[in-house]
This record gives sequence, structure tokens and C-alpha cells, in this order.
Amino acid sequence: MKKNAIIITGANGNVGSYFSKKYYELGDNLILIIHKNDHRIKKLVKDHSDRIKLLQVDLTDYSMLSAKLEKIISETDWKPDRLIHTATARSHTIKSLADSDPEIWKGTINANLFGTFNILKTTLKYFKENKNGKIVLFGSNVSRIGLPKGTAYAASKAGIANIGRTLAAEEATNNIIVNTVSPGPIKTDDSQFSESYRKFRQEYYKEKLRDIPLKRCASFQDIFGLCEFLLSKDNSYITGEEFFITGGKI
Ligand SMILES: NC(=O)c1ccc[n+]([C@@H]2O[C@H](COP(=O)([O-])OP(=O)(O)OC[C@H]3O[C@@H](n4cnc5c(N)ncnc54)[C@H](OP(=O)(O)O)[C@@H]3O)[C@@H](O)[C@H]2O)c1
Repeated sequence: MKKNAIIITGANGNVGSYFSKKYYELGDNLILIIHKNDHRIKKLVKDHSDRIKLLQVDLTDYSMLSAKLEKIISETDWKPDRLIHTATARSHTIKSLADSDPEIWKGTINANLFGTFNILKTTLKYFKENKNGKIVLFGSNVSRIGLPKGTAYAASKAGIANIGRTLAAEEATNNIIVNTVSPGPIKTDDSQFSESYRKFRQEYYKEKLRDIPLKRCASFQDIFGLCEFLLSKDNSYITGEEFFITGGKI
């Protein structure tokens, strides 16, 4: 019986739910971190409770996160050895920096940067104990091209990539490998978004597609292939990098 486990944040999100299903099929134990919603993974969790544990938390709450993770690990005796951090807050307000409400701006930064700090600090405890761990953080191509009307999101995604670079250097001697995957537009189910935010995304995607040489958004499979390699035993030397998955667009 396998003792290793993968921790996936944003496990009910578009990318997170796809990854959860794929890694379940590959035979791994999973600790799935969700926030408010669970509709995309509810059945998976219910049908396979022996290999999947659900952890519901707001990632900005460090104490709650670390207490709940510790409980799951002591009950299962699993040894987490991989983290995939997809959770993200978005720029739903669609406002320029000049028009942004400081508290809403701060909320996005808090969820994305402090949330990243919290999941890393919590998880590293176990990776360091076992001197074994691989991490994929999710950035975005906006970390290098910016995002008009989304400064907090763009800033946080660039920050996440830099956390990854730094952590890779700090934890290399503990056999911990950290990389950031930064996609351009991904083909997703946008049904959960508000009408105005959905319209904003559709316009943005239409404009971006004109510049993407491969003339399509990334599929989940396009993203999964790279992440699977980065988290695999075959990767023992690539760390501290940010990988852009953009169909040829810089
Ligand atoms: N989709 C794209 O086109 C695209 C492009 C470039 C980069 N990316 C990056 O790829 C990653 C995955 O994207 P996605 O499309 O799968 O995102 P998504 O569908 O919006 O999912 C994001 C998930 O994060 C969770 N979340 C939000 N705030 C949280 C908090 N405070 N604590 C815990 N969880 C929280 C949400 O849970 P609730 O819904 O329950 O709140 C949601 O399940 C993200 O990091 C994103 O920035 C995506």
C-alpha cells in the first residue's frame, strides 16, 4: 500500500479538479484542498474515501490549514511528497489600479501571496522531515506581460514565481524541488463566474488568441504533461524555474 501522497490546492477549480482525477487514476493518495465549492470533485471524493481526503479551508488561515493537514496526516500516516498549488483569487472587479478599492486589491494579494506562503510553510514541514518533496506552483503568463485591469492578480502571479525561485535555493539541500508553471489562456469551464467577469475573459481570450501561433488555448492535458514530469522521479535537477505554456506566444 502506497504511503506517499499528493497535496492539491484549488482542487475543485478547473485545473485542480482535472489534476485530482488524473492523479487518482495514476494510483496516488490525494489530499485535496478546497475553499467554498466542491461540485467538480464531490463524487470522486465520495467514491474513493480510502485514497482521497478532503480538506476545506481558506488558505489565508494558517492555523486552520496546518491543524487540518496535521489531523489528516496523523490519521492516514501518509507521507506527502508532492504539492500542486493551483488555488487562486482572481480580478473579478475588472478595475484599473487607479480605480481599485485598496481593500479588494489587498484581498487578492492576501489570498494569492499569503495563501501561497501558508501552504508552502505548512507542507514544507513534512517535506523537510522526509528530506523529499517536489512542488509545482501555478503562476501565469501575466507575470511577464501584465494584465490591464488586473494589477493585483498580475503582481501576485509574478510574486509566486519569485517565491518559487527563492524556495528552490533555500531548500535544495533538503532534496526539495520547486518550479512554477505559468500558462497563457487555458480552455476552461467559466460557468461559475459572474456575467461581467465572463465577458471580460472572453474578450481577453479573443484578443490573445490572435497572437498565439498555435491558435488555440492550452488544454488541461497540455498543462498536466509538464507538471507530471516536474513532479516525477525523472526530474531530479530542474528546480527554481518558471515555465511558460503559451502556444508559442512570448
Ligand atoms: N484558467 C486560465 O486560463 C489560467 C491562465 C493562466 C494561469 N492560470 C492559473 O492556473 C491556476 C488554476 O486556474 P483555474 O482556471 O483552475 O482556476 P479556478 O478554476 O478559478 O480555481 C481556483 C480555485 O482556487 C480556490 N480558491 C480561491 N481562493 C481561495 C482561498 N482563499 N483559499 C483556498 N482556495 C481558494 C477556488 O475555490 P472556490 O471556488 O471554492 O472559492 C477555486 O477552486 C491558477 O493559479 C491560475 O492563476 C489559469
